[in-house]
Amino acid sequence: MNITKQAVIDNYIPEQLSPGNTAEAFAPSNIALCKYWGKRDVELNLPINASLSISLGELGSRTEITESTDGVDQVKLNGELLYCESRFARKVISFINLFRRELDQPVSISTVNNIPTAAGLASSASGFAALTLAINDFYGLGLQPNVLSAFARMGSGSASRSIYQGFVEWHKGNREDGMDSCAERLDLDWPGFRIGLLKVATGEKKVDSRAGMQRTVESATLYQSWPQQAAQDLATIKRAIDDHDLELLGQTAEQNALSMHATMIASWPPLLYWQPESVAAMHRVWELRSLGIPVYLTMDAGPNLKLLFQSEDEISVRDAFPELMDLDIVSPFD
Ligand code: DP6
Repeated sequence: MNITKQAVIDNYIPEQLSPGNTAEAFAPSNIALCKYWGKRDVELNLPINASLSISLGELGSRTEITESTDGVDQVKLNGELLYCESRFARKVISFINLFRRELDQPVSISTVNNIPTAAGLASSASGFAALTLAINDFYGLGLQPNVLSAFARMGSGSASRSIYQGFVEWHKGNREDGMDSCAERLDLDWPGFRIGLLKVATGEKKVDSRAGMQRTVESATLYQSWPQQAAQDLATIKRAIDDHDLELLGQTAEQNALSMHATMIASWPPLLYWQPESVAAMHRVWELRSLGIPVYLTMDAGPNLKLLFQSEDEISVRDAFPELMDLDIVSPFD
């Protein structure tokens, strides 16, 4: 029988909880340079491949947990009280339920995302990471970052990486309970590294990452080559970061992202997250490269692009993409 999240978490939290009155935590959003795509265990959110990301510094989620004053759990998002049956509220409540045993203490959970809405970035990674950190504090669990990363992963896979700043590797792990499938900060800095958050299209996506990766694993023959490619790309990206080799990093990250998208397109029914504007923006990136400007792209399960470049090329990138606002250019090591 498969192990449940609850059974795993129960092994790490005390019988008797000692909740405080309030706790607050921040976690950054992150962009994968070597993507996580595909689960080997859906209940525990265990990945088929290891992945590597860069955290976005001050851009992310801040979560506060306090005792609820009106006898029921409350969930707020960006200051707005949510209907308790809304998707977001249900996800948050069922996650916190994993940690509070039989405790009869309704809480109020408030999450504020400061990611520029114009960037169109998903916030589930930073949201679950901040929630996990706040839970650890509120219930006095005293857990180590690697355990918190594994717990955040149970909320959303990419949240395992948002426990840390900088370059982060999420290990695939081998244990049945998944506790070695957690992230680790790499001891590698790159002060001149820049990420441009380029929003090219709006609108709610119809298929989220969770459903998208499941469809790919189940229906795309092309997916068979993905685990091997991801393992190679991860090793190459680590080497490129170590050498501050933007060309090698950019080329590998871009090819990794486009290979992931190829597996989506090869699924049935086909999954194509790109909009015409996404393709037009890709061509602009390639044109800039043909002019000798080292700028590369990566994309997640959505239509927007993230540009990878170095500080010395910021002016050229801004000239080519005037829609990039100051807040859309992230310096992760500042
Ligand atoms: C394409 O972490 O959102 O952004 O584990 O089902 O919650 P769940 O999926 P999620 O998937 C992220 C997929 C990705 C690549 C990545 O961030 O590595």
